[in-house]
Order: sequence, then C-alpha cells, then structure tokens
Amino acid sequence: MTPYESLLRTLPAAPKTWLITGVAGFIGSNLLETLLRLDQRVVGLDNFATGHQHNLDEVQGLVSQEQWDRFTFTTGDIRNLDDCHQACLGVDYVLHQAALGSVPRSINDPITTNSTNIDGFLNMLVAARDAQVESFTYAASSSTYGDHPGLPKVEDVIGKPLSPYAVTKYVNELYADVFARAYGFNTIGLRYFNVFGKRQDPDGAYAAVIPKWTAAMINGEDVFINGDGETSRDFCFIDNTVQANLLAATTTEAIARNQVYNVAVSGRTDLNQLFAALKHSLAHNGVSYTKDPVYRDFRAGDVRHSQADIGKAQRLLGYAPKFDIQTGIEQAMPWYIRFLK
Ligand SMILES: NC(=O)c1ccc[n+]([C@@H]2O[C@H](COP(=O)([O-])OP(=O)(O)OC[C@H]3O[C@@H](n4cnc5c(N)ncnc54)[C@H](O)[C@@H]3O)[C@@H](O)[C@H]2O)c1
Repeated sequence: MTPYESLLRTLPAAPKTWLITGVAGFIGSNLLETLLRLDQRVVGLDNFATGHQHNLDEVQGLVSQEQWDRFTFTTGDIRNLDDCHQACLGVDYVLHQAALGSVPRSINDPITTNSTNIDGFLNMLVAARDAQVESFTYAASSSTYGDHPGLPKVEDVIGKPLSPYAVTKYVNELYADVFARAYGFNTIGLRYFNVFGKRQDPDGAYAAVIPKWTAAMINGEDVFINGDGETSRDFCFIDNTVQANLLAATTTEAIARNQVYNVAVSGRTDLNQLFAALKHSLAHNGVSYTKDPVYRDFRAGDVRHSQADIGKAQRLLGYAPKFDIQTGIEQAMPWYIRFLK
C-alpha cells in the first residue's frame, strides 16, 4: 500500500479541520471535494477574484449532505489580515491556494498580483502562525525555475524569475523559510507544474492551455499555439496535486517539513503533442476537430521547457503520482465535454 492509500484509510477515522484558501478555484475546489469525501471538516476562504460559486455548487452535488454540512465557507480576502485570522481559528492544517495565477496577468498588472500573492501570503502566514496550526502547505510554482536551462528541474537549482508572477512565488518560499527559522513554524511549499483537470476555468484571457484549447476544439474554434509548438511542459493531473497536498499537510517527519517539493509526473510534452493528444481524446469521446493549429508569436515571460525531477517528493513525502498526462486527459475529457459544450 502506498503512503497515500494508507492516509486515505486513516483520515476518515480521525477527522481534522482543514482550511483551504482559494477554495472556489480549480485546485481549491478539488481539494475540497477530496477532503469532504474523506469526512473531514473544511473551512473555505475565497473572494471570487478568479474562482466561482458554480465550482462550490458542483462539489456540493458530488458529496453527501452530511459531508457538505462539514464545510464552512466565508467570502473574504487574504489581503485583509482580519479575514485570515478569522479563517484560521481552530484549524489543524492550512492548504493555502489563494493567489492570482497566470504569467501574462502579472505582466499586465504586477501590482495586483504582488499584493495578492505577497501581502496576502504574508497575512496568511502570520494568521496561521498565530493560530498555531499544525502545518501550512502552500501553492508554490515551477515558474521559480525561471531562466535556468537545466532539465529535469531539481528543487535547489533555480534561475532568475521571468515574470512578476514568478517573483511572487519565489518570495513566498523565502517568507515560508524565514517563518520556519524565526518562529519554528511548519511550512511546506509545493511547486506545481501545469496542473489540469475538472473545474479548471476555460474562460478569459488568462485561461490555462488545456481547458482553453479543449473548449476551442469542442466549439470548433481556432486553437492558437504560442511559438513553434516545441515549448514543453510537465502536465500534472489534478489528483496527483491533491495527493501531494494531503501527504505534505499530514507528514510528521521532521526532515520532510520546511521544504519545497516539485509536484508533477516527470513527463515532458510539447504543445504540438498536446494538441494531438487533446484532439485524439476528443475523437475518442465522439467530438471531431478538423482544423490545424494556428501558430503565433512566443509569449513574453514563458519558460521554454519545463520538466520536474520528483525524486524529493517521492523520497520524503511518499508521493506516487497515479496519473500521467494521457490517463489524466482521459479522466478529465468527459467533464470538459459535459461542461464546456
Ligand atoms: N493551475 C496551475 O497549473 C498552477 C501552477 C502553479 C501554481 N499554481 C498555484 O496554485 C494555486 C491555485 O491555482 P488554481 O489553478 O486553482 O487557480 P484559480 O484561479 O482557479 O484559484 C485561485 C483561487 O484563489 C482565489 N483568490 C484570488 N485572490 C484572492 C484573494 N485576494 N483572497 C481570497 N481568495 C483569492 C480566487 O478567487 C480563486 O478561487 C495558486 O496559488 C496558483 O498560483 C497553479
């Protein structure tokens, strides 16, 4: 049995209280669904900047009434310290997901990204420290590798940030590290690499590539590839990301705490391959897309290649991703077809 399988067995018998910030977003709502299914108590905080009520409604429809009753939601802003203190009361584990994602958004509006991702992060650290929570697990990012060309990416070899977003995510790691040193506070950073799956927002200028392209294909619209299509990513299915969060939050191993970990599968898929994989999976689900992709300029701030070494998370957290990009797309596609049509 893997450490995650054994955690899934033990958690329901000893329910804890979890705070998920950004709970109405893509990753937050998937964490919520898993934790409620495991009979945990969950507190949620979100200001709906990019999250949606319909994500929460969808989770409500997937769990029992008894499980849903264990969820307390507050509309609030992590830039407001009082909201953070309120949300942390009585909490065992914090899963801090709230932030403004997207490299281009941060290039267009660095001030709002900075205040949410740095001021808001610091507020959450202070509030969680004051509430003496057991652990503080936060969403870090592969963008921290910046301009370092090495592959696969290993946690302690990073380059210079290529965007304001990347700066904010790196500053999060620096603050978390200082809170461990200065206050003995227990934090774990998870550097996510291009997460995908159900409830990832397909709309708007800052949508992620998989939901954006899938929505375009389902609706017979053009798919745009930024650059030559050889830009590559380590796409990580949401269930792997949820697994990493639960393992990180609950680890009691001193050596595993106050660390940052890559969370991915250690695969590498370029955009041309991704286009073909989505097209194939849609066809398999009865949706045919006949257009060729439209190539346009490279996008500012984008890292050229990204692939994780996941050895550290495997060794110290017992992380064992169950899905690769192919099986992840197969899992996600029926949801996309149902909700994006
Ligand atoms: N999706 C990815 O591939 C990926 C990759 C690397 C890192 N991350 C990080 O993971 C986290 C979750 O990302 P996601 O993909 O679920 O994005 P998302 O936009 O779906 O979710 C973010 C949530 O945070 C909320 N939020 C934003 N500002 C807030 C504020 N000031 N106060 C309270 N709530 C606020 C939003 O309303 C939203 O519900 C983010 O920290 C993001 O930077 C995501």
